[in-house]
Amino acid sequence: MNIHLEAVAPTFVARAQGIDLRDPPTSAQVEQIEDALAQYGVLIFPVQALDEIAQDRFIRCFGPGRNGTFKEAAGGNPNFIDVGTVDDQGAPIPRDSARWEYMLANRLWHTDGSFNERPIRITALLARELPPVPPPTQFADMRAAWEALGPARQAQLDGLRVVHSILRSREQTGMTPEKFDPQTLATHPPSVHPLVRTISRNGKKSLYLASHASHVEGWPVEEGRALITELIAFATQDQFVYSHPWKLHDFVMWDDRWTMHRATPYDGPHPRKMRQCAVFETEPV
Ligand SMILES: [Fe+2]
Repeated sequence: MNIHLEAVAPTFVARAQGIDLRDPPTSAQVEQIEDALAQYGVLIFPVQALDEIAQDRFIRCFGPGRNGTFKEAAGGNPNFIDVGTVDDQGAPIPRDSARWEYMLANRLWHTDGSFNERPIRITALLARELPPVPPPTQFADMRAAWEALGPARQAQLDGLRVVHSILRSREQTGMTPEKFDPQTLATHPPSVHPLVRTISRNGKKSLYLASHASHVEGWPVEEGRALITELIAFATQDQFVYSHPWKLHDFVMWDDRWTMHRATPYDGPHPRKMRQCAVFETEPV
């Protein structure tokens, strides 16, 4: 059965209905979702109360997951990361803990895992428990931003390469290198990616930005950093941004190749439990 897609925002984001993600998707449904990700960037599947097995089975239809070494693995599955205010067992995460400090960078505009040589291609979040007024997650359309730059500016930018580092995003939230788990640092060296990416499925170009973006290869660091700051500010203007108002058991899936996202602050007393899973590129970008 075809998945019904309904556009949510002017340039990107769709609500996807007519599929129960607890059942294994057909290959036709997987292809339709890949097409929808290339067209809409962010897909909202409402009311999908997935257990761990179903969430893992669904996301693995789209490609490989983590290599099993990430220290934040949740639910006994290395492909899951829990983000929120409580841990896997429901205990509040201390605000002065390394884990909380690490998660603060989620509040910066980013694409997931861009510091990897093979970055994350798709991320999905399942809302497992929400406070009465859930904080929205915001998404930015870097394709619309690219198109709005115009041909002269595009020509200046196309071909530049950007160094991405897990340290760059964390230093912006005050986390110093010595606070990192040595294994995380050892397994996450900086990576270089093009500033402008082309989605092979439809040939459309987009900026590829993130808070992990440190500097431009071959440029003085501060000059490249200024360009990255300018482009992130440009790409996150109101006309390129969608804020998702979470409802319980929303399953939201997005294309990290041409959208950025950020968490909005929530420090209230009610538990917020989101389970993240991801799909990695199979080749360097
Ligand atoms: Fe993220």
